[in-house]
Amino acid sequence: MPYNTHIKKACLPLAILLSIFSFGCVRGGLTNTDSHEYYNGMVVCAYPDASQVGLDILKKGGNAVDAAIAVQFALAVTVPEAGNIGGGGFMVYRAADGQSNTLDFREKAPAAATTNMFLDSAGNPVPDMSLSTHKASGIPGSVDGMVEAHNKYGKLNWADLVQPAIDLANSGFKITKELAHDLNKTQAEFKKLNPGKTYFIKDTPWKEGDILVQGDLGKTLTLIRDKGWYGFYDGPVADELIAEMKNGGGIFTKTDLQNYHAIWRKPIIGKYKNYTIITMPPPSSGGIALLQLLHAVEKYPLHRWGHNQDSTVQLIVEAERRVYADRSKYLGDPDFFKVPVDSLLNPAYINQRMKTFSWDAATPSASVLPGTFVGYESTQTTHYSVVDRDGNAVSITTTLNNGFGSKIVVKGAGFLLNDEMDDFSEKPGVPNLFGLIGGTANSIQPNKRMLSSMTPTIVEKDGKLFMVVGTPGGSTIITSVFQTILNVVDFDMGMQDAVDAKRFHSQWLPDEVYMESGALDTLTRQKLQKKGYKIINDHPIGRVDAILKTKWGYYEGGADPRGDDTKLGY
Ligand code: GLY
Repeated sequence: MPYNTHIKKACLPLAILLSIFSFGCVRGGLTNTDSHEYYNGMVVCAYPDASQVGLDILKKGGNAVDAAIAVQFALAVTVPEAGNIGGGGFMVYRAADGQSNTLDFREKAPAAATTNMFLDSAGNPVPDMSLSTHKASGIPGSVDGMVEAHNKYGKLNWADLVQPAIDLANSGFKITKELAHDLNKTQAEFKKLNPGKTYFIKDTPWKEGDILVQGDLGKTLTLIRDKGWYGFYDGPVADELIAEMKNGGGIFTKTDLQNYHAIWRKPIIGKYKNYTIITMPPPSSGGIALLQLLHAVEKYPLHRWGHNQDSTVQLIVEAERRVYADRSKYLGDPDFFKVPVDSLLNPAYINQRMKTFSWDAATPSASVLPGTFVGYESTQTTHYSVVDRDGNAVSITTTLNNGFGSKIVVKGAGFLLNDEMDDFSEKPGVPNLFGLIGGTANSIQPNKRMLSSMTPTIVEKDGKLFMVVGTPGGSTIITSVFQTILNVVDFDMGMQDAVDAKRFHSQWLPDEVYMESGALDTLTRQKLQKKGYKIINDHPIGRVDAILKTKWGYYEGGADPRGDDTKLGY
């Protein structure tokens, strides 16, 4: 008998009650100048097949949440780097009537986790222990998140939303050049961490157009289709997950799985000019940081200065420096640490922070707050934006953390484990994968959620839906979402241009400014360097997938050309 997600609440009273077209396909990187006018709905996500799945659900009469659930499962198959059932994420939802909600389906530390679990006997972090081991994984939240979303807002049958992902897993799909590249790059780690064979390991190099079939994942998804929550957190899949943990030295228990619940949280809502920003509260750091950044730049004439011009870049970098310093101290799981949300968002406080900034020279980060850093950036999270014909909107960012998470595939169940424990602060002042540092607010504690930068966001103008936006990119998520909003609001760009525009990123520590190639003209670069800004040429930053409701009433998508991102509307 097909599973009905609405059953879960009755059977599990303790569970806390999820806050995701011309029929054209336009793939980021191929055709960004899509001029179709889509009035009925749109899906923008990281993979063409997954966007198609979402579009099909909308066309069948599903709402934005139905389409988002189908996209989440389809991405778990087609974007194994980041799409997932073994990870977690955040959803921001805005109903057509203007009501908004958010769902936190972030992973949690297992009950047996300890503050120093990634430190050696001398108190130093053990290299890679929080990234590529069974202990690196938090309790997955994605399946519970989707079940909760469906319970609260879903319209179509659950089984119909999971089925397209099962088909993609069992029949296989053609991999893109990017996925082939990522799989090839990760072969040695897959082999080391998965003693049995996994379908990601191949004797000859992967190439674009190869078919990736994931039978075990198809089997797991079938259980999720038929049994919903119980198909993942109980029964054979849970048993396989616990066996994987036992064999690999992990610390999950069945109780951890059964105690996992996604949490509905009140959105963080703020103003920028005449726009209302609806965004994710802690354990995301993104919502608060985004609103702090927007307020910090609001009174300045960015439009007159121009996009990526010296004054604009300087102001933004100085704001980012201060905001990321705050992040390191004040942000963490609100169920464990009292995050001073009101103080951080108090305009007087933000203005005060910006007073120490001088136009003559870069403020040294060491004088804002002390710290050190060595680290790397990864873009391996994924974001999708959906709107339906009624105007309901969903913005979801979901992640395994690093590319392919911990790279460990659960034997028999066929899905990748996250390495989200690395998002905790393992030791005060020691940077994580993204170079972010933290302290008590984000220390490891049993059952606590690790701080995230994921910033799914919805923007309103005059009380009406205006933009749905988000991106992967670790610590760069916040600054990419921030720049995308500025590109539309202050620099009058359309959605695709705003997504295409070159980005830069700064995060207090290290005291550097990362620039995409071509982001600055030579003169602007020289002016900034003269003032003391250390500019580093960087890889592409973020993969923003966004939707704009134009003043003419149709939806305009922005699919990031930096990846395989695809916008589909109707
Ligand atoms: N794992 C990246 C983030 O949540 O910010």
